[in-house]
Amino acid sequence: MAPKILDGKALSKTIRIELKKEIDTLTFVPTLAVILVGDDPASAVYVSGKERDCHKVGINSILHRLPAGIHEDTVRQLVSSLNDDPQVDGILIQLPLPSHLDEDTLVGSILPQKDVDGFLAVNQGLTLMGNPHALQPCTPMGVMELLTRNQIPIAGREAVVVGRSMTVGKPVAALLTNANATVTLCHSRTRNLQSHVERAEILVVAAGKRGVVDSSWIQPGAVVIDVGIHRLESGELTGDLDHTTLADRASAFTPVPGGVGPMTRTMLLKNTLKAAKSRRNIL
Ligand code: GUN
Repeated sequence: MAPKILDGKALSKTIRIELKKEIDTLTFVPTLAVILVGDDPASAVYVSGKERDCHKVGINSILHRLPAGIHEDTVRQLVSSLNDDPQVDGILIQLPLPSHLDEDTLVGSILPQKDVDGFLAVNQGLTLMGNPHALQPCTPMGVMELLTRNQIPIAGREAVVVGRSMTVGKPVAALLTNANATVTLCHSRTRNLQSHVERAEILVVAAGKRGVVDSSWIQPGAVVIDVGIHRLESGELTGDLDHTTLADRASAFTPVPGGVGPMTRTMLLKNTLKAAKSRRNIL
């Protein structure tokens, strides 16, 4: 049987319609502040995409564009003023920052209630605890929505995550555990990666590198989420996995592009709405 395509683009559209509907009923306009330092062209493209996404669903986005050579204290003062600004519901510092700026310090200075990326220790901890007030990291949240909204059973299943980043691998492992999967978290020091991948009924690959997981290891019928995105020399976008072999083995999988990527962007909108509501004690 042909595998099911876990279409993140279509699902994003559905969720954005839901978000817009809810935002239209509010008596206030949720606001996201975005800080972009320097002129990295990829970051500029990402940020303008986020601004466009916001406006389409009725979220106000305010871009703070800062010069590459800016002093860290000046960025910190801006974050502090956005933390104190009652109009601002979410704050996002676009990464990477120029190398003279300390990302951990600056991201860490965002008020946890406004941390719509879900990067802060508090939100990572609340995510680990399964606390409903967590602003969860956007990519892991998007992965879970892709599974649950496609009625993929999770409880009791063998889930294998490849990659242990704080933005994807570790929180995805936490969310799958909270959804009652039996989770193995693999990484660059894992011995015999193949033996783990072969057991996976749900496989999440967030290695950030092509060729770490060989698609021929995937068990027939597995559900596969490919978080990677890479541009080939031909200009074509591709994931961490070889999708030709993957399509022959998996029962369902995310395409690249059009799988996890649009979901990450949509979860930022969802988190901004959540932050806006919880700051006003709306459930
Ligand atoms: N740079 C690339 N992806 C992201 C993201 O999801 N959040 C932030 N803040 N920066 C990024």
